[in-house]
Amino acid sequence: MNINLTQNRNLKLFKLISTIAQNNGQSVYIVGGYVRDLLLNRSAPTDIDFVTEGNGMSLAKAVAQQIEPSPKVSLFKNYGTAMFKHKGLDLEFVGARKESYAEHSRNPLVENGTLEDDQKRRDFTVNALAISLNQENFGDLIDPFNGLQDLQHKILRTPLEPSQTYSDDPLRMMRAIRFASTLNFKIEENSLAAIKKEVERIRIVSMERIMVEFNKIMLSERPSLGLKLMEETGILHLVIPELTALKGIEEVDGQTHKDNFWHTLEVVDNISQNTENLWLRWAALLHDIGKAPTKKFVEGSGWTFHGHEFLGSKMVKNLFHRLKLPLGTDMKYVQKLVKLSSRPIALIDDGTSDSALRRLLFDAGEDLEDLFILNKADITTKNSSKQTKFKKNFEYVALKIKEVEEKDHVRNFQPPISGEEIMAMFGLKPGREIGILKEKVKEAILEGEIGNDKDEARNFVIKEGETLGLILS
Ligand code: CTP
Repeated sequence: MNINLTQNRNLKLFKLISTIAQNNGQSVYIVGGYVRDLLLNRSAPTDIDFVTEGNGMSLAKAVAQQIEPSPKVSLFKNYGTAMFKHKGLDLEFVGARKESYAEHSRNPLVENGTLEDDQKRRDFTVNALAISLNQENFGDLIDPFNGLQDLQHKILRTPLEPSQTYSDDPLRMMRAIRFASTLNFKIEENSLAAIKKEVERIRIVSMERIMVEFNKIMLSERPSLGLKLMEETGILHLVIPELTALKGIEEVDGQTHKDNFWHTLEVVDNISQNTENLWLRWAALLHDIGKAPTKKFVEGSGWTFHGHEFLGSKMVKNLFHRLKLPLGTDMKYVQKLVKLSSRPIALIDDGTSDSALRRLLFDAGEDLEDLFILNKADITTKNSSKQTKFKKNFEYVALKIKEVEEKDHVRNFQPPISGEEIMAMFGLKPGREIGILKEKVKEAILEGEIGNDKDEARNFVIKEGETLGLILS
């Protein structure tokens, strides 16, 4: 089969590479994800990998020299690869290789090989497709492992015996699941069995690389596809056991609770329809993690998960640390949403006081809308009248909060009176009293005792100051 490259936006580049390789007496091919995505008509990938039967580094240098202005070529001698950037593209050149892996290492033993040797050592048949850039068969698809057929049938199959492919590089187990999730492909049966068998080898892969794949799963249209496969193969239990601990339904005295693991997957899928924000999707993934360690059956009230939001938010930090995820604002955002995840539900009662609404506004601040997105996604009941009722309830709370906000402006709360002003009022130096008075002002505003207003706050501070024995200066 010939792939018509005449309309390809990179045709000029491909022709240049072709001519230079021809002059050097070496063959050259496009391989990997670019070919796969091109055949799938996915949006034009910006990473292009070229394989040459010959020296990849010298080919890259020769190509870069012919480009104006000449890009800087980065060489990775250990892997025999060379890269440079050109017009928003990341171009990588490698000499065709034969590889074998040692038992406890991800570092391969490498020798020069043919194109087919190189295709064989790749992870999936759909990633082992090559397009020739050689003049005698420019555009020909070189497909020794029926990758095109697998692409059409949406199947992930390894070119070699699956155990070997996964054992050679266990990151591929995560890649299989990631591609299954992002492309909506099926992992071929023997391959799936091999992943289950080799699953322990995931431990030799760095957490950073596992998380790169995991986050791609999280950003796919239906992350539950990948999460289910991670659960089924045992990878999830090795990487995030806090999630698999949510699995199962217990029964005491005829009372059951829902399976919080499958519920969580539904919540993640639901939220993914409404946000591309990775960390909001993470908040959905982790919103119930505190439920496994807090689960209790209490006579008279049934199953309880008392304080699970608080414990869950504490668990987020350890988890992010272990998973080598960023520990700054993203982690704090996830913690906050997990901690607040049940608060709006508690406000649904018509008799809810303005002060409870003000407190939620104060605590959620600029993340209030995201909290509501999470709460809506959390509605997984199959009973449609209940579903409508829950959604209406949230809209009602959102409306009430809006009213309070317009009145009191406590979102992103700025104290109406500063510590310096309080010090000046009583002629004080910095000390404990200032903090106490500021906290009292905040509490009085949230409780609705005084408005969020400078004069009211001043009068309040004078009164409170007196009870602390302070005298106006
Ligand atoms: N590859 C592999 N095993 C790996 C990683 C990569 O065999 N663990 C091969 C595959 O042939 C892959 C190619 O190297 O297609 C390029 O890898 P990479 O750029 O990481 O992934 P892509 O397949 O291009 O996919 P994506 O860009 O979506 O990550």
